Amino acid sequence: MKYVVVSVMLLSSLLLFNVFQAKSASPDEEVCKSYIVMFCTRCHKPERICKVLGTKTDDQWRATIKRMGDYDELDKQTRDTIFSCLSPLSLKDPMVCRK
Ligand code: HEC
Repeated sequence: MKYVVVSVMLLSSLLLFNVFQAKSASPDEEVCKSYIVMFCTRCHKPERICKVLGTKTDDQWRATIKRMGDYDELDKQTRDTIFSCLSPLSLKDPMVCRK
């Protein structure tokens, strides 16, 4: 019986660990929101980003974020995070656009 309990505990902690890992691969909404507020709304309103959501290819997003990064010296990790946040969104996504 003891072994069963121990192995169930082991298995579930492994499962939890996996779920946690999978989640951290793409940044969650709160992380995205704070990145966008911190790095992307200092010079212009979020509407500027809102208007083009879902209209850019991955390469176009990388180019835009790189250009913004050049204005503001964003490091690669920050640019990559913002890219993963913005590229999957479609037009008018409430994460960027005001409700
Ligand atoms: C240092 C000021 C500054 C910061 C910070 C900034 N931008 Fe911009 N952004 C600009 C200026 C200036 C323009 C207009 C000129 C241009 O398009 O390069 C612009 C234009 C844009 C446009 C419209 C043009 C296009 O290519 O679609 C988008 C989208 C955009 N910014 C997104 C972002 C995102 C996302 C971030 C955060 C990573 C960001 N901006 C941070 C200054 C900034």
